[in-house]
Amino acid sequence: MKNQQKVIDGISVPVMVLDNDLHISLANKAAFKSFPELETGAGLEKLGDIDRDIDQLFRDTLANRGSASVTIVTDETFQREFLISVKTVVDLKDFPEPTLVVTFEDQTPLRVAKSMRSDFVANVSHEIRSPLTAISGFVETLQGDASDDPDASKLFLGLMEKEVARMTNLVSDLLSLSKVEAKERRAPKNPLDVNQTIHQSIESVSALADKRGKTLEIDVTPNLPSIRGKRDDLARALINLLENAINYSRDGGTVRLSAHSAPADNPLGGAAVCIAVNDEGEGIPAAEIPRLTERFYRVDKSRSRNIGGTGLGLAIVKHILVRHRGLLTIESTVGKGSTFTAYLPVAALQKT
Ligand SMILES: Nc1ncnc2c1ncn2[C@@H]1O[C@H](COP(=O)(O)OP(=O)(O)OP(=O)(O)O)[C@@H](O)[C@H]1O
Ligand SMILES: [Mg+2]
Repeated sequence: MKNQQKVIDGISVPVMVLDNDLHISLANKAAFKSFPELETGAGLEKLGDIDRDIDQLFRDTLANRGSASVTIVTDETFQREFLISVKTVVDLKDFPEPTLVVTFEDQTPLRVAKSMRSDFVANVSHEIRSPLTAISGFVETLQGDASDDPDASKLFLGLMEKEVARMTNLVSDLLSLSKVEAKERRAPKNPLDVNQTIHQSIESVSALADKRGKTLEIDVTPNLPSIRGKRDDLARALINLLENAINYSRDGGTVRLSAHSAPADNPLGGAAVCIAVNDEGEGIPAAEIPRLTERFYRVDKSRSRNIGGTGLGLAIVKHILVRHRGLLTIESTVGKGSTFTAYLPVAALQKT
């Protein structure tokens, strides 16, 4: 038995060997980990609520000396999904015959991914449907009551333009997201001049800051150590943070971008550059902060929609930083403002 135990302990999925009476004669470490109540010598009731569903299947499999598989979802609060496969084994020396070998493959991550995908599709459809409904309403009005009224036509065409811009924004954000996601595993290799990237981002948002009456203040250490990165991606991330700070802050407020070498106790642990974007906005309630980087998550939906936001900006920022092996921290005080800080690891010096 000892060797058999060692062999099945080497298998990473839960495995159990059951005797003719459906008692557990052997179970591996992974099985004990997944089902802490498990006991060798005991019956299937030690598997919790799973036993009800598989008991009959196991008996039938034993009776016809066959094999079977079934997918089971547990009744726990955090439901787990297992693909259970069972096979009858005969002609064994050390086990009473016939013996059932059962494996449990945890399909929960797959189940979570499936539900995330359907949530995502539902969100995208919803986001596209709203502007489309608005546009078709405007078209109807333009064809009807407003057809002979130049002022009304102008107004409705302006509104339609805004809705089209929103959809264009959404599609380009979705494309950026899928591009950065696809590249996430491949960290950029080439050294990047951080100062130059910061200036490129500031230039891109200065017109928006003027339009919204916000002052941009910049405090950047010259000649920051270089990091390994992609200029356009990193600039995209900084622009998203700056746009948020401009869009969600008080009229006449100041948006500050500061960039320095990060202190030794930074969250990345090693040498890093930190780029912080701070605003004097309304701030974000603490409970919402962990959800900000979720796709389509918006604190104030109507406000974000009004300014053409899609709720994808911070999800894109997060993916870009993950690709750069960096991370984002968010600090915010309601009524005072927020600071979004990107930490990026400094490129190790080339060995000569
Ligand atoms: N600096 C900030 N101050 C206050 N709230 C913020 C700030 N930055 C982001 N938020 C909140 O977080 C939400 C998500 O931001 P995110 O950038 O992901 O999406 P968005 O700005 O709504 O749309 P877009 O995809 O166009 O960026 C925003 O809708 C807003 O409610
Ligand atoms: Mg945004």
